[in-house]
Formats: sequence, structure tokens, C-alpha cells
Amino acid sequence: MAKRLLQILALWTFVIGIVQCCPELCRCYDRNGKHLAACSFNGPLKDLQEVPVGLPSNVSSVFLSSNKIKFLKSKSFINITQVTALYLAHNRIVTIERGTLAHLTQLVTLDISYNKIVNFPWEDLVNLTALHRLRMNNNEMVNLPMDAFSTLEDLEFLSINNNKFTTIVQGTFSALSSLSHLQIFNNPFACSCSLEWLRDWVATTNVSVPELTSIVCDTPENLKGMMVTNVPKLDCEAPAVTVTSQPNIEESDLYEGVMVILNCVTKGSPTPQVSWEVTVGNQNYMFPLPSTGEMNDKPINDKTTRNRFLVFRNGSLIIPRLSEKENGNYSCTAVNDLGKAEGGVKVVLTVSPETSSSTPGFSPPAESITLCCQKPGLERIQTV
Ligand SMILES: *[C@@H]1O[C@H](CO)[C@@H](O)[C@H](O)[C@H]1NC(C)=O
Ligand SMILES: *[C@@H]1O[C@H](CO)[C@@H](O)[C@H](O)[C@H]1NC(C)=O
Ligand SMILES: *[C@@H]1O[C@H](CO)[C@@H](O)[C@H](O)[C@H]1NC(C)=O
Ligand SMILES: *[C@@H]1O[C@H](CO)[C@@H](O)[C@H](O)[C@H]1NC(C)=O
Ligand SMILES: *[C@@H]1O[C@H](CO)[C@@H](O)[C@H](O)[C@H]1NC(C)=O
Ligand SMILES: *[C@@H]1O[C@H](CO)[C@@H](O)[C@H](O)[C@H]1NC(C)=O
Repeated sequence: MAKRLLQILALWTFVIGIVQCCPELCRCYDRNGKHLAACSFNGPLKDLQEVPVGLPSNVSSVFLSSNKIKFLKSKSFINITQVTALYLAHNRIVTIERGTLAHLTQLVTLDISYNKIVNFPWEDLVNLTALHRLRMNNNEMVNLPMDAFSTLEDLEFLSINNNKFTTIVQGTFSALSSLSHLQIFNNPFACSCSLEWLRDWVATTNVSVPELTSIVCDTPENLKGMMVTNVPKLDCEAPAVTVTSQPNIEESDLYEGVMVILNCVTKGSPTPQVSWEVTVGNQNYMFPLPSTGEMNDKPINDKTTRNRFLVFRNGSLIIPRLSEKENGNYSCTAVNDLGKAEGGVKVVLTVSPETSSSTPGFSPPAESITLCCQKPGLERIQTV
């Protein structure tokens, strides 16, 4: 009787074992001492809509290509931590949840090419330091973070071609010390100053970068269709900012009611985007200067702040009548393709013991340059 029970028990475990061993539409088998799960090419009527549950935990290669999987959930591969090769090409994947891949630290080959991925969980790659081959081509990805591949020192093959990348930040490939083959063709590159490095890098690197004739500019209009490697030397200059003040804030006392003029002069090519940022008390104001439109004498800020600040297209910021409320940081930022520069001043009202709150006005020391305004029209009278 006991023997029979044991037999039933053994059979039962065996059945459970089979059930847990391999998902229904997959075939699992050992080859060369490794366990493989083949879940591809099931035929049109059996295409997988999602990653099957129950992949064997000792599996080292999983073939899921050519199915109709749309979504990778963070738990999809939770049990298969030994996997070294994961093939997911030719599916309909749009979304990969963050964390789906991060624990697959043994992965040597990852193929997610020919899907519809827009947002890839780049932070998951940080952990995949064993990767040798990464295929991400033929997707819809737009943004490639600069540090996306920063830990992949063993990566030999990388394909990001046929995506929607408009640029690749300088340094994106610099940690890939084992890289020998890089596919970047058929992306709509914006051939601006920030991509100029790529032309020079492709010309000198030992990495094989195939299909140069398909690595072309999509913008600007005058370079459209031109090979990135043929783009002429562009006129590129990193932005620079100089902020000056009248009166000179570092050398003068600033008394109540004084008019302070801050001038922001910028350099750079392409012409940088300029903005003033004002932090007074616990308030913060951003005044981006329009880059288009004619120069005129009208302040660009709206009425709600005009009694305190006047910001002009030419880069000047005027505090018509300084009071304690305008104490704070005034910083001017210039940004172009090559980077960002910032300059600023700290405005602090000089508190003089004679000036009590009941007697507004000011009594500048004789040697300081003070500017005052008679009327809000901002005509300046310079008193020395
Ligand atoms: C993996 O596990 C299955 C049972 O789930 C077993 O049949 C197979 O032999 C194992 N393969 C390896 C390589 O460990
Ligand atoms: C992972 O294993 C657990 C326990 O065996 C099981 O309940 C779960 O369904 C498995 N998940 C997947 C995605 O295979
Ligand atoms: C990344 O790898 C480390 C070390 O292998 C591990 O402790 C950590 O849990 C992994 N991160 C994730 C999100 O799995
Ligand atoms: C390319 O390889 C040659 C010979 O191996 C080496 O001297 C050179 O420094 C390499 N160039 C780069 C950019 O790595
Ligand atoms: C900028 O324009 C304003 C308004 O026309 C003017 O008051 C200011 O002096 C100008 N700044 C410079 C640096 O020319
Ligand atoms: C102004 O900037 C200085 C230094 O950057 C900072 O310590 C200070 O808190 C800032 N003040 C305001 C009002 O933001």
C-alpha cells in the first residue's frame, strides 16, 4: 500500500515537473549541456501574444522571435536568471517595463530588433555587463541617453540602425572598449554642431561602422541627404555669458529706489537661447528671451512683473526701483548645441542705519555711481 502511494506520489511529482518544465507553445531541450526553450515559429494560429509563464529556471537560451508579443512586463523573465541569450526580434513590442531586464545579469546576447519600441528602459542596461551582442535595430526609439552603454565593457556588437535617433551625444560609445561592429545607419540625424564629433570619430575609429552611405543628415534643410562623414566643418562655438551691471554692483552701495540695469551679453554659434532667471525671496521667475522677432524697446515680460523688472530682447534686465523685495540672484543662461553657460549677480540692498523705513529714498556716498529714474520711462540721470 505504502509502495503504491509512493508510486502515485512519484508520478504526481513527475507530472508537476513536466508542467513546470516547459510552457505549452514552447519546446524545451538540452543541447551541449545547456537548456534551451524554443517558442518561435509556432505558426500563424499559435503566435504568442505575451511571454509565456513557466519558462524553466535553468534555461540559458530563450527563443521568442517572430511572435506577436506587444508588452514586456517587469515580471516576464523573473524566474530565468541564468539566461544568456534572449531573442525577441520580429514581435510587436511597444513597451518594456522598467526592471524587466535588469536582473538578467548573465545575458550575453539580447535581440529586440524589429519591434515598435519607443521608450527603452535604458537604466536596465547598466546591470547587463556580460553583454557581447545587443541588437536594437528597426524600432522607433528617439532618445539615446549618453550613459546608456557606459557599463558595457564587453560589448562587441551593437546595432541601433533604423530607429528615430536624431543625434548621438559625444561620448556615448566611449566606454565600449570591446566594440568592433556598430550599426547606426538609417536614423534621421540632425547635422548640427553637437553631431560634428561623429564625422571625425567614424573617420578615425577602429570600430567597423558599415553602410556609411546610409548615415545621412535629415536636417538642416541645406544638409538633408548628405552623408554625415561628408558634412563640412560647421561654425561652432560654445556659448559664453558676460553679465555687467550699472551701477557696478560689486563696487557700489545700492540704496532703496535706485535703478539697477543688468546687461547680459552672450556669444556662441549657433546663436544661443538666452534666458534670465530671477530668484527673489522664495519666488522664482524665468524670462526666456525670444530668439525670433524684431528687436524693439518693449519689455518681454508681462504686466504682473513689470513693476519690478523689465526684461528686454537685447538682454538687459532693469530693476526700475530697487527695494528689499528685489534682493536676490539674477542669472543669465545661454544654451546652444555645444552646451550651456551662465553668469549672474547677487543684488543686495545696502541697509544704512540712517535710512529708516519711514524715510524712503537714498543717500549715496559721493563717490558711488548711482542711477535714478525720474519717471518710469527709464531715462537715466547719472549722478557722480
Ligand atoms: C533543466 O531542467 C530540466 C527540468 O526542468 C531538465 O530536464 C534539464 O535536463 C535541465 N537542463 C540542464 C542543462 O540543467
Ligand atoms: C515564477 O515562478 C513562480 C514559482 O514557481 C511561479 O508561480 C510564477 O508563475 C513564475 N513566473 C513566471 C513569469 O514564469
Ligand atoms: C543589478 O545587479 C546587482 C548585482 O548583480 C544586483 O544586486 C541588483 O539587484 C541588480 N539590479 C536589479 C534591478 O536587478
Ligand atoms: C586602431 O588600431 C591601431 C592598431 O591596432 C592602433 O594603433 C590605433 O591606436 C587604434 N586606433 C584607435 C582610435 O583606437
Ligand atoms: C536694451 O534695450 C533697452 C530698451 O530699449 C535699453 O534701455 C537698454 O539700454 C538696452 N541695452 C543695451 C545693452 O543696449
Ligand atoms: C543666491 O545664490 C547663492 C549662491 O549661489 C545661494 O547661496 C543663495 O541662497 C541664493 N539666494 C537666493 C535668494 O536664491
